[in-house]
Amino acid sequence: MSEHPKQLLLVGAGAIGQLIAHQWQCAKLPIVTLPRSPGRHADFFDYHFRDYQSARTELCRIPIINDSDFSSIQAVFIAVKAYDLESVFRRLDTLGVPHDRPIICAHNGLVDLTTSRPCYTWITTHGVTRSNRVTEHKGLGSDWIDARIQHHQQLTEQLHTAFPKLHFDADIKARQWQKFCLNCVINPLTAVNQCLNGELLKEQYHEQRRMLVSELVSLSQALGYRLNTADLLVLVEQVCEATAENQSSMLSDIKANRKTEIKALTGYALKKAAELGVNLPTHAALYHQFNQLYLR
Ligand SMILES: NC(=O)c1ccc[n+]([C@@H]2O[C@H](COP(=O)([O-])OP(=O)(O)OC[C@H]3O[C@@H](n4cnc5c(N)ncnc54)[C@H](OP(=O)(O)O)[C@@H]3O)[C@@H](O)[C@H]2O)c1
Repeated sequence: MSEHPKQLLLVGAGAIGQLIAHQWQCAKLPIVTLPRSPGRHADFFDYHFRDYQSARTELCRIPIINDSDFSSIQAVFIAVKAYDLESVFRRLDTLGVPHDRPIICAHNGLVDLTTSRPCYTWITTHGVTRSNRVTEHKGLGSDWIDARIQHHQQLTEQLHTAFPKLHFDADIKARQWQKFCLNCVINPLTAVNQCLNGELLKEQYHEQRRMLVSELVSLSQALGYRLNTADLLVLVEQVCEATAENQSSMLSDIKANRKTEIKALTGYALKKAAELGVNLPTHAALYHQFNQLYLR
């Protein structure tokens, strides 16, 4: 057993996972990955990455961990879609990843997890797209992490080295909830209307946008978050404006015939609302419309 575990284990080497791995490796920090289904003799996971505004695509590789020895792992970074999260936690247990290792979770949407592992939320506003050939860092954003992670000193030093602009947020739950609300408006609306983010600013969506926001504010208040309709509406509009030419991740998933994160977004909001006796008729109608169009 290694005396000073210091490797980061990446689970979910997709778009966001590759961005994290690329920055971690640029800082010359050790990282390994655990693929969903390892090739029989593969020692490395290879990916082609194009950095923000770079003309060059790099071939990058992450060593694949030998799944019988996790003693060298000091932390786990999980970058899977929300619907894969529970199975990843089950897999960490089955494989015997030590229970004291901090887990950083970077998914969008919300999932009620039952785990005793120390988990820390990571919020990112970067935009990364992935095709079979190349992963591209297309939108420059910011990253926030739960400030409690600073109890883990060596990991915190590594995070500072790899992500010099990372924000350590003492109220990450509020930030996560705010992002959740933004995603609950923009993602399903762009998906059912098959439009770019900027098109949601058109007059025809004004009332639906306002209702979606105001219902989310009622739910937020029932959950103890301090949000108001005017501020959240402005935020939604700012994001639509700043990402006007972008296709939302949910619309991209629909177009590529991939599973979406609707259950961890609108589905989660409806579930919480039902538990708390809050009415979300506009979200319920949008969820119904979404499922009618796309549920397979
Ligand atoms: N992309 C963005 O710009 C962006 C921005 C902000 C937030 N996010 C959020 O970040 C999360 C990840 O998104 P993404 O775009 O990176 O998704 P993605 O490209 O689909 O990557 C997810 C990766 O996780 C892998 N995976 C799933 N289950 C696994 C398991 N049990 N063990 C090992 N690997 C597993 C998938 O493998 P397969 O390839 O085999 O399915 C895939 O490589 C989502 O919640 C998303 O909403 C994304």
